[in-house]
Amino acid sequence: MLTTKAREVIRCCQLLAECSEEPGFTTRTFLSPPMRNVHSQLTPWMEGSGMTVGVDHAGNLRGVYAAASPASPRLFIGSHLDTVTRAGAFDGVLGVVLAVALVDLLEGRRLPFTIEVVGFSEEEGVRFGVPFIGSRALTGSLDEDLLGRRDAEGCSVADAIRDYGLDPSCVGQARVEGDLLGYVEFHIEQGPVLDNLGLPLGIVDGIVGQSRLTVVFSGAANHAGTTPMSARRDALAGAAEWIVAVERLARDTPGLVATVGQIRALPGAVNVIPGRCQTSLDVRHPDDAVRSAAVASLIERARAIASGRGLEMQWDTHLEQRSTAMSPLLTSMLDRAVAHGGFPVHHLSSGAGHDAMIMASRMPAAMLFVRSPQGVSHHPDEAVIEEDVAAALAVGWQFLEEMARSGRWST
Ligand code: GLV
Ligand code: MN
Ligand code: MN
Repeated sequence: MLTTKAREVIRCCQLLAECSEEPGFTTRTFLSPPMRNVHSQLTPWMEGSGMTVGVDHAGNLRGVYAAASPASPRLFIGSHLDTVTRAGAFDGVLGVVLAVALVDLLEGRRLPFTIEVVGFSEEEGVRFGVPFIGSRALTGSLDEDLLGRRDAEGCSVADAIRDYGLDPSCVGQARVEGDLLGYVEFHIEQGPVLDNLGLPLGIVDGIVGQSRLTVVFSGAANHAGTTPMSARRDALAGAAEWIVAVERLARDTPGLVATVGQIRALPGAVNVIPGRCQTSLDVRHPDDAVRSAAVASLIERARAIASGRGLEMQWDTHLEQRSTAMSPLLTSMLDRAVAHGGFPVHHLSSGAGHDAMIMASRMPAAMLFVRSPQGVSHHPDEAVIEEDVAAALAVGWQFLEEMARSGRWST
């Protein structure tokens, strides 16, 4: 039965992957039109499983499966429905679809706690440079600053919310209140650890901290044919030198990963020296002090390179997310559920960011990883193995059973 359900889950993820801003690929950023298709495909299934479904004013899809009795505590299960540019079918979406499948498996049986399934509107940070818009709304940290942040077309987060037919002045209503039991997220590992060990599942101990910045080099645009090499102030050449320095520092610092994933050179003509070059920087490390020191050193390096080349350098920090430990209590419940299913109990830390980092600020949070074949993610080749998805369903089921038996609410 779980194999059939796993097949359904995978098929659903693959269908949702067709909801895209770009034909032939899966690209779905914050509240872009295809997100509406995702919402309308998931809603009937969620309602059919016994949930009351709505979209909050931050664009999160929320399905409430009520407890056996009113005023019971609430367990949140979810992940995100947005994607990176040219994504695979499973990052984020698998966690939402698995959560719906788990509720579906209950076949109407009510538990001593409410389950709320959340499909977060935004986790990747692609459109606005800042991730976790959806989960920030649930934890009450989607502030005016973030609502005013603009995408490359000049559209603000608040505009995007309005364009979707929602009301940015009501995002406060998305904040979770009451007796919060915890948050559990199922997610593909997005790395090679489980695949290399031949394991279907892994339990997350903690999620590394991350910094995201924009670094801009400014020089002077001029004619590519007539400007002598000695008289140039080439912003792109300065950025290139710095990008190599970013890679070198990360290679030389154990545990550090650093990525320049975006680069925009202006005016962007084959025969014009680039006068301006904007880059992104993403830096991660399990130890927040190491990460902060690395960021400081990379800014200093950018300054030195710019000054040696007669360029200006400006930088702006969009994200300083501390590393986050998962809840020992919920994690030990996942351990037992994994062992109960006959799977090896393996703990690992997450190099990717997750909504669980944000939810952990309001309630105990835990995560279960599903093996990513070849460790491929943020890529159309992202995959899952049907048996692994069935294993995750078995663990989720057992986790719910243990929580239902634990008796915290049997007063
Ligand atoms: C999200 O997937 C991230 O870690 O960038
Ligand atoms: Mn992702
Ligand atoms: Mn994700």
